[in-house]
Amino acid sequence: MKTQCFTPAEIAPAAEILRRGGLLAIPTETVYGLGADGLDPVAVTHIFEAKGRPQDNPLILHVPSADWLTRYCEDIPDTAYVLTRRFWPGPLTIILKHKPLIPDVVTAGLPTVGMRCPAHPVTRAIIERADRPVAAPSANTSGKPSPTTARHVLDDMDGKIDGVMDGGPCSVGVESTIVDLTVTPPRLLRPGGVTLEQLRDVLGAVEVDPAVTRLMSPGEKPRAPGMKYRHYAPNAPVTVVKGDPEETARYIACASDQGSGIICFDEFQPLFPGRVVETIGSADDEAAQARHVFDALRAFDSTHVKQIWSQCPPDEGIGLAVANRLNKAAGFHIIHLKK
Ligand code: TXA
Ligand code: MG
Repeated sequence: MKTQCFTPAEIAPAAEILRRGGLLAIPTETVYGLGADGLDPVAVTHIFEAKGRPQDNPLILHVPSADWLTRYCEDIPDTAYVLTRRFWPGPLTIILKHKPLIPDVVTAGLPTVGMRCPAHPVTRAIIERADRPVAAPSANTSGKPSPTTARHVLDDMDGKIDGVMDGGPCSVGVESTIVDLTVTPPRLLRPGGVTLEQLRDVLGAVEVDPAVTRLMSPGEKPRAPGMKYRHYAPNAPVTVVKGDPEETARYIACASDQGSGIICFDEFQPLFPGRVVETIGSADDEAAQARHVFDALRAFDSTHVKQIWSQCPPDEGIGLAVANRLNKAAGFHIIHLKK
């Protein structure tokens, strides 16, 4: 199949792909999504095939506004509207009970569905034009780092999907925050662009699912099925070193060798001569780190590094999301340096 590339002026032909059951990669503020008509089970099956995604990992539905929630969801709590008023369109997915019209292949048979209204205006225009809720996981091959440019999408999906809308690089860079509103108190299932602190500000108590901060043991079932899989992983194994940035940089400089890849904060680059270095932003700029972390993880696959060492921000603000992606890329292989 030839994968067509669209520019933002081409909303109509892009929407047409969705209407006729095809696969279209869409830009969002978080990462690129691999979209299909969320009411068409055959189209949705093709998403799983293109990504090599396990069938028990449900997809989220993208809508252009909170007005669409009542089409697909029931027993919607007030907290849903409190959150959508504050954070939509934006990097927040809410888990709600769904109506029977949502195909099982979207939800992996769960009684709930993730709903998200992306901030990228081109994608909202495509969804409006298609007049369908768009089921879309991140547009990477399953297990690989999520794509934050149209180029990344083509690296994984060229020839496997009908089209990609190039909406430029993603402004947030890590996937949406997922909060489950079907439980009390609401539960954070995946940290992302909307921070835990922001959610607690609006909702009061919010629990954090254990899968956010540690590896699930074989018997355990995280509430977001996707959190149990190895994820975001470059070919070479990753070790994350946590602690004071000066100290972690010095530690990695000693522990790494010429064949190593390094993910570091900008200011420490000079400590790593002869290594393959990817900088992700300065130590105090977690928003920049979020924008660059997936690009950095992807970059090593076109090199010959045998091992990757990474610095990591503290678990605060959007740093919690960056740390979560790095920890998962490392299979939770983390070295904690004491103060
Ligand atoms: O930012 C994002 O959310 C991106 C863009 C494209 O919108 N999408 C994305 O989708 O990250 P995906 O499929 O890569 O991640 C969705 C996560 C998975 O971990 C999945 O298990 C979880 O959401 N999920 C989906 N439906 C769920 C449900 N009903 N209950 C619990 N978790 C759910
Ligand atoms: Mg994903």
